[in-house]
Amino acid sequence: MTTPKDSSSRLDTQAVWSAEEGPFPYGAAVMPIVQSATFAYPDLDSWSAVATGQAPGHIYARNSSPTLDVLEKKIAILDGAQSAAGFSTGMAAISSTFFALLSPGDKVVSVKDSYGGTNVLFEEFLPRFGIQVSLCDTTDFAAIEAQIAKGCTLLYLETPTNPTLKVIDIARLARVARAHGAIVVTDNTFSTPINQRPIELGSDLVIYSATKFLSGHSDVLGGLVTGRADLIAKIYHFREIAGATLHADAAYAILRGVKTLALRMARHNSNAQQISEHLARHPKVAAVYYPGLPQHPGYAIACSQMRGFGGVLSFVPAGDFSSVRTVLNGLHYAQRAAHLGGVATAAGPPAVTSHVELTAEERARAGIPEALIRYSVGIEDPADLIADLDQALAAL
Ligand SMILES: Cc1ncc(COP(=O)(O)O)c(C=O)c1O
Repeated sequence: MTTPKDSSSRLDTQAVWSAEEGPFPYGAAVMPIVQSATFAYPDLDSWSAVATGQAPGHIYARNSSPTLDVLEKKIAILDGAQSAAGFSTGMAAISSTFFALLSPGDKVVSVKDSYGGTNVLFEEFLPRFGIQVSLCDTTDFAAIEAQIAKGCTLLYLETPTNPTLKVIDIARLARVARAHGAIVVTDNTFSTPINQRPIELGSDLVIYSATKFLSGHSDVLGGLVTGRADLIAKIYHFREIAGATLHADAAYAILRGVKTLALRMARHNSNAQQISEHLARHPKVAAVYYPGLPQHPGYAIACSQMRGFGGVLSFVPAGDFSSVRTVLNGLHYAQRAAHLGGVATAAGPPAVTSHVELTAEERARAGIPEALIRYSVGIEDPADLIADLDQALAAL
C-alpha cells in the first residue's frame, strides 16, 4: 500500500490518553457513564456559582454532562481544535451548525456530492429559511472559487465524498473562502483525524458522524463538531436550546471506540487499498472508486492532504442493476445495511444507503450511479473479503 504521509505516532497515543487524566469518580480507571438528567447541589450558593459560570460543573444534561465533556475534549485534541460539541447524531451536528451560524440572506457554497441527508438540508430546509445554497460540481474547484467570490457566508466541504469518493482540495478552497470572510466547514466522517486533519488545512470547523468510524462498532449514533472556540460557543448555545445533545451512554461508547481508532483505521486503510487494487484488475468489475488508486482523479490531492485513504470504496459490477442484486445478495462477509465505518464490512447501493433520501432523478442530477455498490471495508482478514467478493462476482 502507498502511504501519502508518515503516519503520526502522536495521534495513536493521544487517541488512548488525551482527556483521560481524571481523576474519575471512585478512582475509576476510565470515565464512567454519568447517567443523570440533572445535577444537584448542597446549597443555593454552590448551585448558582456553577449556573452562572463562576465555578466548573454541570447543571442539566441537555446543556452539558461529565462523560460527554471528556469525549469533547478528546476529539478536540485529536483534531487540533480549540473546542468541540457533541450531538445525538451526525445530522444533528450538521443541522445545528447551520442553524446556529446562518441567518436569512446568507449564502452557503457546497458541492453536489455531499451526504444525502446534508443534501436535503441544502435543497429543502435552508432555502425555506431564506438561506441561499449554491451546489457546485464537486471537483470543479475553479467553479467553487467563482461562487465563493460572488458572496459566501459558509463553505461546506465533505471529502472524500459519499459514495463516489471524490477528493476535494481543502487547503485551496479554504484559502479562498477565508479571503472572502466565509466560515469553512468540513465533514471529515470518512477520514477521521487519523487520516485527515482539516483544521491544519484551513477549515474552521470539522464535523463527524461519530456513528461511523469514530465509534466503529455499529452500536451507537452520535455527531461531533470541532473547531474555533467562538463558533463552537454559538453551536453549543444552539444545542442547549434545540436539545439534540449527545447522551452519556453514547458518549461513553464513542469514547471507547476512539481509543482503538488508530489501530482500526490502519486496518481499514490497508484492507480497502488491497481490495480496491484487486477489484480494479477484476474482469467482472466495470469501475472502482477509491482515492488510494493512482488512476483515481483525486489521487494527487489525496496524497497531499490525507495520511491514509480510508475504509470506504465503491465499485460498479459489470452489467446492469441486476448485477448489483446478484453481487450484493451473494456476499457472505458484508452486512447489507445503510452503514459504514464499522468493524464488520457493510455494502449497499446509494439508493438504499447514502442517498436513500433522494429520488432517482435527484441521484442522477448529483452524478450518483444507481448500479454502484458502496463497500465499507471492515477489519476482517483481507484474504477472506477478497475471496468473498470473487465468489459473489463469479455469479455474474
Ligand atoms: C459523510 C456523512 N456525514 C454525515 C452523516 C450523517 O450521520 P448520522 O447518520 O450519524 O446522522 C453520514 C451518515 O451516513 C455520512 O456518511
